[in-house]
Amino acid sequence: MPVNERIRAAREWIERAGSITVLTGAGVSAESGVPTFRGAEGLWKKHRPEDLATPEAFARNRALVWEWYRWRQELVSGTEPNAAHYALAAHAARGVAFTLITQNVDGHHERAGSRDVVELHGNLFRARCPGDGTLASLSAGPFTGIPVCPSCGGAMRPDIVWFGESLPEAALHRALLAAESAEVFVVVGTSAVVQPAASLPGIASSRGAKVIEVNLEETPVSEFADCVVRGTAAETLPRLFSMEEGSP
Ligand code: OAD
Repeated sequence: MPVNERIRAAREWIERAGSITVLTGAGVSAESGVPTFRGAEGLWKKHRPEDLATPEAFARNRALVWEWYRWRQELVSGTEPNAAHYALAAHAARGVAFTLITQNVDGHHERAGSRDVVELHGNLFRARCPGDGTLASLSAGPFTGIPVCPSCGGAMRPDIVWFGESLPEAALHRALLAAESAEVFVVVGTSAVVQPAASLPGIASSRGAKVIEVNLEETPVSEFADCVVRGTAAETLPRLFSMEEGSP
C-alpha cells in the first residue's frame, strides 16, 4: 500500500478511537537535534553505558557521571521541540482519552505543551536524592559540582533510570494500564529493544488495539504492527494527528 494510503487509514483509526496511547523514543526528538542512542551517530556508539549509566558507574565516579548528564542537558537546552511533539500536544488537547508515554528524558513533550506525560526513564532536568528520595529541578548549566540534597545534605544523582534499575512504579503502572485500554497504540521513533517499554505495543496488540508504527527503520514492532509508516516523526505525526486538514 502506498505511504499516503497507509497514513490515511491510520489517521481514520486515530479519528475514530475512543482511547489512544502513544509511546515515543529518541527518534521523536531526532529532528530537534537531540542524538538517539543506537543509530550510526548514537550516544551508545560513542560512550559506554557501563561507564556512565549504571549505579556502579555512579558509585565509582560521581563527578564523571554528573558531567556527562550536564553535557546532555546543555545539548538538549540548545534544541527546541519539533512538529511531532506539537502534533501530539495538540491532539491531547482535543479531550479524547489520550496517554503519552515517553522513554525520552529531554522534556520536549512538556515544552511542546503536553501534560501528564508518563516519563518511564526519568528526566534530565531533575536530580534525586538516593537517600531520602527528594527531587530537585535542575536548570541547565555546565558542571559546577554534584548537587546536594536540600533535605539531608547528601549527594544527589540524576533522576534517570540506569541500566539494571527498575522503572518508577507509578509511571510503569500508568503505562501498562494505558497499553491495555488503548483502542489505538502509536509507537514512534523507538528501536523497541529496551524492556519493559518495548513490550507495551505487544500488550496493546494482544488486547485488540490497532498498532501503528512510525519509524525510519524496521523494529521488532514492525512484525505485528497493523500499520507501519516508514517516515520521520516530524513529517508524519502532523499528518496522522492533525484534524484540520481534509486529507493527509
Ligand atoms: P534508540 O536510539 O534505540 O532508537 C531510536 C529509533 O528512532 C530507531 O529505531 C530509529 O530508526 C528511529 N528514528 C531515528 N530518527 C527518526 C526520525 N526522525 N523519525 C522517526 N524515527 C526515527 O532510542 P530508544 O528506542 O528511545 O534509556 O532507546 C530506548 C532507551 O535506550 C532510551 O530511553 C535510553 C536508552 O538506553 C535510558 O536512558 C534509560
